[in-house]
Amino acid sequence: MLPQPYNFLTSTSVIPVMVIERETDAVPMAQALVAGGIKVLEITLRTPCALAAIKAISDAVPDAHVGAGTVCNSDDFAAAVDAGARFIVSPGQSDALFNQSIASNIPLLPGAVTATEVMRAAEAGFKVLKFFPASTSGGAAAIKAFAGPFSDISFVPTGGIGPKNLMEYLDLPNVQAAGGSWMLPKDKVQVGDWQAVTQLSREACELSNVKELTQ
Ligand code: 3PG
Repeated sequence: MLPQPYNFLTSTSVIPVMVIERETDAVPMAQALVAGGIKVLEITLRTPCALAAIKAISDAVPDAHVGAGTVCNSDDFAAAVDAGARFIVSPGQSDALFNQSIASNIPLLPGAVTATEVMRAAEAGFKVLKFFPASTSGGAAAIKAFAGPFSDISFVPTGGIGPKNLMEYLDLPNVQAAGGSWMLPKDKVQVGDWQAVTQLSREACELSNVKELTQ
């Protein structure tokens, strides 16, 4: 069972990792993902317009559950929450981020790919962890192996995941959801082909629904 602030993750099996280069793309991109069935969105703080994009999507796409990714320090955490982020994802972990999540009651998915990092996050009270970069950190096999010693920890892997290997991750009971950018191909985003994004979003949902139906 997920800790209460992480309940939003039960509504999705895939989380798009959004890198938004143009502020004007933010709302149509989010609408395209939501139209395909993906409602939990991670907007990475990697571009100058990322905070404005979080605000715009939070204001204009009420069906979306918006979070911020690539949050590496306290200032970014605070700015993302101010802009409207309802959850925070970090590629790694720090005491400052742990403390800020606990103090603000904003759920944090800290990154962990080693046993020591998993233990450190768990000791701070964090049981839902980002596993990044998944493909070069042992992939699904590594997460499967963590189920033995860390039976109460769930993972959200990202990095190198796409339609071909998505189910390797989602089939694992200790994977809560998988993230990635495959439903936002750069060439489609560049020309504003939002129908293509909706179609890829729909296909990702259909793949993951198969998982839900067979469980
Ligand atoms: C990231 O943080 O960049 C994500 O892990 C996305 O990785 P991907 O582009 O390989 O899906």
